[in-house]
Amino acid sequence: MAAIATSCMIMMMKSIPAAAAAAAAGDFDITWGDGRAKVLNGGRLLTLSLDKTSGSGFRSKKQYLFGKIDMQIKLVAGNSAGTVTTYYLSSLGSTHDEIDFEFLGNLSGDPYTLHTNIFAEGKGNKEQQFYLWFDPTKGFHTYSVIWNPHTIIFYVDGTPIREFKNLEAKGVAFPKQQPMWVYSSLWDAEDWATRGGLVKTDWSQAPFVASYANYEAQACVWSPSTTTTSCSDSSNANSSSWLSQSLDTDGQAKIKWVQQNYMIYNYCTDSKRFPQGFPVECSS
Ligand SMILES: *[C@@H]1O[C@H](CO)[C@@H](O)[C@H](O)[C@H]1NC(C)=O
Ligand SMILES: *[C@@H]1O[C@H](CO)[C@@H](O)[C@H](O)[C@H]1NC(C)=O
Repeated sequence: MAAIATSCMIMMMKSIPAAAAAAAAGDFDITWGDGRAKVLNGGRLLTLSLDKTSGSGFRSKKQYLFGKIDMQIKLVAGNSAGTVTTYYLSSLGSTHDEIDFEFLGNLSGDPYTLHTNIFAEGKGNKEQQFYLWFDPTKGFHTYSVIWNPHTIIFYVDGTPIREFKNLEAKGVAFPKQQPMWVYSSLWDAEDWATRGGLVKTDWSQAPFVASYANYEAQACVWSPSTTTTSCSDSSNANSSSWLSQSLDTDGQAKIKWVQQNYMIYNYCTDSKRFPQGFPVECSS
């Protein structure tokens, strides 16, 4: 149940309007946080910070309709309990699509929770949560998504942790029509983030800071004026192996390893939540 509450809260927070489209550098626009988000090293490093007054966030300048998107993130170190760092792709509106990484902070020495979810045509409820096999605050680690017409694969440092296949043929909605932006934010969610809200944010540790580097989007860039993407030109699409990539047997073995050793929540095994039977994708 905690996971469901989590999703609702995240949805609410995401609807915070862009306070003022402020600084713009490189691939991103800083969308909120009143100076708490910073672009450093000539655009190569981005930091978000959170204090008692506000968090902060940014959004990609471009929209994508499929891509291989990589970002290196160094999460809030020390006592990060109550903080949430989001990193996600999303379109807009009530029938939006979304692909989520969310990092729920913890007390020093206690593990972060990596929360993942997928929304297709406005419907989420596909939460999986993981611990990581390293300390995500000690250095930068690469969090990636491959999103193509056949599948969505989440990666951590190149290791696949989750796959959501296109099962439209079985009636499962799949994100493939709405271009998405890449977003990130750092904000306070002490009501539920850490041990279901038992552990609150320690504001004496503020400001909390997360850092971002080496963003790379090999992607089909959406053009709102022509409503086509850069991949519409087939010579372009041809060279993009991620556009047809699926998990090979090695990738499947790695996902299994992660799921056996690091998965802490899977909606597909939460029978209390689905007394009438699990969603179709859970058995495919
Ligand atoms: C925080 O640490 C506790 C204790 O190890 C653990 O139960 C919990 O899953 C961790 N993550 C969060 C977000 O509470
Ligand atoms: C597309 O890929 C095929 C097979 O890999 C190749 O034979 C063909 O020349 C490529 N076309 C272009 C326009 O690059």
